[in-house]
Amino acid sequence: MLVSTKDLLETAQRHGYAVGAFNMYNFEGVEAVVRAAEQLQSPAMLQMHPKVLSYGKQPLVALFLEAARSASVPIAVHLDHSSDRNDIRMALEAGMNSVLADGSHHPYQENLTFTREMTQLAHSYGAAVEAEIGRISGTEDGLTVSEKEAKMTDPQQAGEFVRATQVDCLAVTIGNVHGKYRSEPHLDFDRLQKIRDAVSLPLVLHGASGLPAEMIARSIELGVCKFNVNTEVRQAYMDVLRSLSEQPEADLTDTMEEAMAAMEAVIAAKMRLFGSDGKAKLHAQASTPAAAT
Ligand code: 13P
Repeated sequence: MLVSTKDLLETAQRHGYAVGAFNMYNFEGVEAVVRAAEQLQSPAMLQMHPKVLSYGKQPLVALFLEAARSASVPIAVHLDHSSDRNDIRMALEAGMNSVLADGSHHPYQENLTFTREMTQLAHSYGAAVEAEIGRISGTEDGLTVSEKEAKMTDPQQAGEFVRATQVDCLAVTIGNVHGKYRSEPHLDFDRLQKIRDAVSLPLVLHGASGLPAEMIARSIELGVCKFNVNTEVRQAYMDVLRSLSEQPEADLTDTMEEAMAAMEAVIAAKMRLFGSDGKAKLHAQASTPAAAT
């Protein structure tokens, strides 16, 4: 079932686990998320990067939404990292449940103005907004932010920003990176604790590929309710596609099934790490309060 991102994350926050938000590109990816979520009775988020939105446009958005709608578990659909007002409007008009209004490349005041405007717009559609302050380094779908441009989230600024913009969840930068970690990841949990003390809304951690279990667990204790995952799932898919070059006679449908299964295994492992397995029933109750009484 297609559910509100706000409900999804606030329910996770109340019960002390996190929801995996998986960046997907096509049918196989979307189906892998739905299969893993149904298998584990877990909530999930289907995420689309703006580059993927430009590539697949409305037909691909419709696929994401229909997959969520027809799933037996709660799934929200989200536009990742968008700094383009037209893309955000298009996503909201199509019925996506949330957007990351990403003004993190702007100076603080401009980021605030942009995010506030996009939040008002999203709320008028009944959708939620994720914002980012600080800036995450690394590469994702052609968008590269160098280590020099990266900036950790300032806890005091986070408090001001959330009050001024009325966003629904906040992506933090505490040493996390998009893509592969080139050395052992180091997350600044003191900073995360200070951000938690400054704001009460659900927090989001990007760059969850490659984070060890204990860092995931500590992040959840300190308020992270959504983890963004791309690289590890994409890698699993690409590995199967690469194997095609050695099997020119391979049946394409069988290969796609194999690729789906490879992605599903990675997604399911992440859901278990995030503690969202078995939690679908909590959301079903949360989204139908009238039926519960
Ligand atoms: P990874 O590719 O590092 O998993 O990060 C994904 C992400 O943060 C999407 O916004």
